Amino acid sequence: AGSLLSLTPPMGWNSWNCWGLSVSEEKVKSSAQALLDKGLAGHGWSYINIDDGWQAAQRTTSGKLLPNNKFPDIKGLGDWLHTHGLKFGIYSSPGTITCGGYLGSLGYEEQDAALYAQWGVDYLKYDWCSYDQVVLNDTTTAAYKKPFFVMQQALRRHNRDIVYNLCQYGMKQVWQWGPSTDAQSWRTTEDIEDTWQSLYDIGFHQHALYPWAGPGKWNDPDMMIVGQVGWGESLHPTRLTPDEQYTHVSLWCLLSAPLLIGCDISKLDAFTLNLLTNDEVLAVDQDTLGKQARRIIYTPQQQVWVKELADGSKAIGIFNMDTKYRDIAISWKALGLPAAQRVRNLWTQKDLELIKEGYKARIPPHGVLLLKTK
Ligand code: GLA
Repeated sequence: AGSLLSLTPPMGWNSWNCWGLSVSEEKVKSSAQALLDKGLAGHGWSYINIDDGWQAAQRTTSGKLLPNNKFPDIKGLGDWLHTHGLKFGIYSSPGTITCGGYLGSLGYEEQDAALYAQWGVDYLKYDWCSYDQVVLNDTTTAAYKKPFFVMQQALRRHNRDIVYNLCQYGMKQVWQWGPSTDAQSWRTTEDIEDTWQSLYDIGFHQHALYPWAGPGKWNDPDMMIVGQVGWGESLHPTRLTPDEQYTHVSLWCLLSAPLLIGCDISKLDAFTLNLLTNDEVLAVDQDTLGKQARRIIYTPQQQVWVKELADGSKAIGIFNMDTKYRDIAISWKALGLPAAQRVRNLWTQKDLELIKEGYKARIPPHGVLLLKTK
């Protein structure tokens, strides 16, 4: 029943951007505990997704996949998450090995799906990686779809709702056929990094994909690189400026993207916590209409994206793409809106005066003004 899953984009945490392959049960649990302690769960954050690096080096003689010794009791971890109202995500690849060189599911899809169901898994990120060695020169879309169908069939044999994320970097226009594999989301690009360039290359190039998003089918522009990140090698504060982080979260919400926090939650500072707990901003992402914003205005200095919301209002992101402060003027008409608007600033949660015709605002470098019409 894939179509009824994830009717709004999943919200949670993924281990990759902070822990990389050094992920462990202890680290996952401490992140989940921090998510609870800091009240994030109350704002809708619920998935705790273990990325690559949890698998043992060898299967048992009967082919069973085992966790490695950094995960002494993975089923117990899943149960613990469920007891605390959280959800349990896992990671594998359709090839022989994952991107990190761990065991993949090729040839063992049935067994692995059964194991996930038995562990109570709620989310599977299924990452292409070494499957290149299976398709070789077969560049047909069918060849690229195949492994995702194989795992879908295996998952379907179990009476468990598992959100299915296809991670194959937007190859073969995955947004067009993702839903046919019962997937609820699909990565649209390569991996994100905590730089403006990466945020720009990924986030600001999703505009053509808006027709493909909807309830239960989300374009996934990768994790949110806020807070402390570092792939387990060099944990450091994100290299995005505070304004770039407002832009990041605003854009992901406008895009109806899955919101997966990529940082070490146990080290969340007040700024990052604030960034992740603004309910009015998160509501833009979680809007039940499930539309993705359209890019309405696009110049080298500024962009305006507009998202239709279920209550008939619109969320408007006005982005300053420049490296200096800019006074950005927009006319409601240019956005296809009636002449006078009452709008609310979602980050400050304040209503603005009735604004006739248009709006002019001073926006910081790489910053955003996120508005909602009333
Ligand atoms: C790929 C994915 C990442 C992460 C790593 C793990 O690069 O795109 O999100 O899952 O593999 O090895």
